[in-house]
Order: sequence, then C-alpha cells, then structure tokens
Amino acid sequence: MAQKNKTYYVCSVCGYKTPKWAGKCPECNEWDTFAEQSDEPSSVKYDIGSLKPMKLSEIGEFTEHRYDTGISELNRVLGNGLVKGSVVLLSGDPGIGKSTLLLQTTESLGKSKSVLYVSGEESAHQLKLRADRIGVSSENLTVLCDTDAVAVCAYVEKFLPEVVIIDSIQTMAIKEISSLAGSITQVRECANLFMRYAKTLNIPIIIVGHVNKDGNIAGPKVLEHIVDCVLYFEGEKNLSYRILRAVKNRYGSTNEIGVFEMKDRGLSEVKNPSQALISGKPKNVSGSCIASVMEGSRPILAEVQGLVCQSGFGNPRRVSTGFDYNRMSLLVAVLEKRAGYFMGNCDIFVNVAGGLKIDEPASDLPVAITLISSLKDEVIRDDCISFGEIGLAGEIRSVSFAEIRIREAIRLGFKKCIISEHNLNELPNELKENIEIVGVNNIRSAYIEAVK
Ligand code: TYD
Ligand code: MG
Repeated sequence: MAQKNKTYYVCSVCGYKTPKWAGKCPECNEWDTFAEQSDEPSSVKYDIGSLKPMKLSEIGEFTEHRYDTGISELNRVLGNGLVKGSVVLLSGDPGIGKSTLLLQTTESLGKSKSVLYVSGEESAHQLKLRADRIGVSSENLTVLCDTDAVAVCAYVEKFLPEVVIIDSIQTMAIKEISSLAGSITQVRECANLFMRYAKTLNIPIIIVGHVNKDGNIAGPKVLEHIVDCVLYFEGEKNLSYRILRAVKNRYGSTNEIGVFEMKDRGLSEVKNPSQALISGKPKNVSGSCIASVMEGSRPILAEVQGLVCQSGFGNPRRVSTGFDYNRMSLLVAVLEKRAGYFMGNCDIFVNVAGGLKIDEPASDLPVAITLISSLKDEVIRDDCISFGEIGLAGEIRSVSFAEIRIREAIRLGFKKCIISEHNLNELPNELKENIEIVGVNNIRSAYIEAVK
C-alpha cells in the first residue's frame, strides 16, 4: 500500500509545527498563521556526480553589471545602482509611495532600457492617470495588469524586458496552488518563481511587498530570505518626508539611506536632508537641540525635541517618537542619578522632527540636553550641535565619525559643537578654525556649554 504523504501545519511566524490545524499558535500566540505543508517521500537517491565544488581561488572574478536607475538616492541605497539579475524587495506601509517611486524610476530607466511594469493592484487607466500626473511618459515602458505569476514569467521569457517591476507580490498568484493570493504559500512560491526567472534570464526584478499590521512584510518575513536586497520605504504618513533604507543587500552596504519628499507631482529627491530636517526648527524655544547622526556613510543633522512637564496624574507619561523608548528611560534615570536633574514625576516626551528615526548612541547627548533644557525652560544656542554616547555613570563617551559629523555642521553654518573630550584628539586642527569644538566629560558641563 502506498504510504500517504503526511501533512502537518506550520506557523508562518515562528515555525511551530503541529499535526492539527489551530487558530492560534501556542508558541507565539499569533492568530491564523498555520499553513499546511507535507513531507515529500524521502526515497530520492542522491547523486553527487552533478555537484561541482570549486576552490575559492579558482572562482573567476565577478563583475556585476549595474543599471543606473536615474534616481541617485535610490542608486545609493542599492549600492550604486540596480544589479543585473538581482531581485529587490521594496516594502513599506500601504500608501507610503512605493508605486509612485517605481513608476518614476521607470521614466529614467526607460531612457535606455525596456521596462515591464506588472500591476496587480491598479488598472491600466489608474496607472496612466498617475503616470500623467507625475510626468512619466517613457516609450520603453510596457504595462501589464495581471495577477497570474506563471503567465507573467512566460511573458518575460518571451519578450525579455531589461527590467521588471512587480506591484505587488501580495496580488500575484500561481493558479496551481489552491491558497488565496497574499497567503504565505502563494507569496513564497511566487517570489521563488520570480527569483528563478531573474537568475536564469539575468533580468533585475523589483518586487513590491506590503507590510502587515505587525510591521512584518506580509507572508511574514519569508520573502526577506529569498531575495537579494530588501528596501524599506518609511515615513510618517502625514509628513512629506520619506526615507528609503536597505535592511539587506547582497551587493552593497545596508547602512545607506535615501531621502525623498512627497509632493503633488510625485516624489522628489532631497539632496540636502540636513537642511530640510532642521529648516523648521523654532527659535528661542526650550527643549530643542540639533543632533548629528550617521546614516550609513552620510551625516545627517536632525532636530531633537523634548518636553518635560509636571504630570497631572500619579503615573507620569513617557512618549518617544523616532528615538528608542527604553533608551529614553535610561537617559532619564542617568540624568536623575548622576547629574541631579529630577524629572521622575514629570511627563516626558521626546520627538525627532521630520519623521526621522535615530537609533545611534551618539544621539544620547542631544536628547539629554534637550530634556534638561525643557525641564529648566532654558533655550539652547541656535548655532550649536552635539553628539556623544552617555554611559550609565553619566560619562560622555566618544563616538565614531566625529570629523564627518562636524564637517556637516560647518557646512550648514553651525558655530559650536559639543562632543566627548575623548573625541577631541583625533580631530585635525584645521577643523577647529571653522567651528568652536568643546570636549566635555559629563552631562552637566555639556549642558552648560549648550546654553552658554
Ligand atoms: P502610492 O505610491 O500609491 O503608495 P503605495 O504604492 O506604497 O501603496 O502612494 C500613494 C500616496 O501618495 C497617496 O496617498 C497620495 C500620495 N501622492 C502624492 O501625494 N503625490 C503624488 O504625486 C502621488 C502620485 C501620490
Ligand atoms: Mg501601490
């Protein structure tokens, strides 16, 4: 009697296996995450004759071909252009501007390359309307409104466009698979299919993926492992700045960011993000300080705002936007214990203006200065920036890239810079002629310098 394939259910979030379907995963407590899987019969005989191991030294040099996307912020995040045969996942919240960005890319790419834009979300008319609005009119752009992944791949194989865009993976489906489009199985299998075609035909494919309510790319994270490059497009919906960030890149660094602004005619690149981010800084107001943070190889000046006020209730509120909540709590504790600024019974709010998220230890010092400034209601000097990590003993520690950060501050006309005294020695003398650099070793003296 032929043995029946054993099927079991696997949680798509944590990988928990169970023989019976369940609505809620007992391991990670997520709902509706179980997908059916079956074991293939393991009677396959392996033949190592087909394997071709190589010595590292025998492998020829690989020169990747990169396409210039025509959008320098996008090129930078991709690591200097779109690599031929690579699969890029562009993900982000719905409505953040993924389709807009890619459609705009087709215009510049279309100058020299044939581009296929597969849309499963919008009709051809909707696409045309949007293209007209943002000024896309490339002759080399072909639009295909379909959701059948296999048919799309067959089309690609026949007509060999030079770049393919799939918008979005959640709308694509393989008919032979019974689950609905957007389910984890469909998403994974479609992505695998596109991956195979990208590699064999050596065509770059950009795939759009929506993020679900937990912040995972729907079809939880399965996509990230498959593709070569994962880009996140993020920003506050009600603010116009958008930040493009690489979280995985097999062909480049993951530290770079690209900054865009959503306007009525689509996205425009922000070549000078520091200027844009600090342009709205209020004058003569307490609780505002400029931080210098590194995003990849690029220094960015950002305004950190803080508000410390007496709490009306027993349980003070702490809210942090754009800065890690736990780090804020830690800084508040350090300020109390080591520097004598008591704010334990106060409501505390921290906000990084412009929708930027900063997660660098170097932003500790500006956050601390901002909080003290708000607590004491004293105004920080307008022409002053700071950076430095704060340790649990209240000491100011050195951070990397001090010189680059200071040069950015000089470029934007700042006159004073407060840093850790340990950073002072590494700086070239010529820098000190253009800006007053103050090295400090504790929070109190840093604050005194910032208001002086
Ligand atoms: P879209 O690219 O459709 O988002 P996604 O593909 O990530 O879901 O962007 C839609 C939003 O962008 C929509 O809310 C309106 C806004 N938008 C503009 O502000 N200006 C424009 O020129 C365009 C095309 C869109
Ligand atoms: Mg879209």
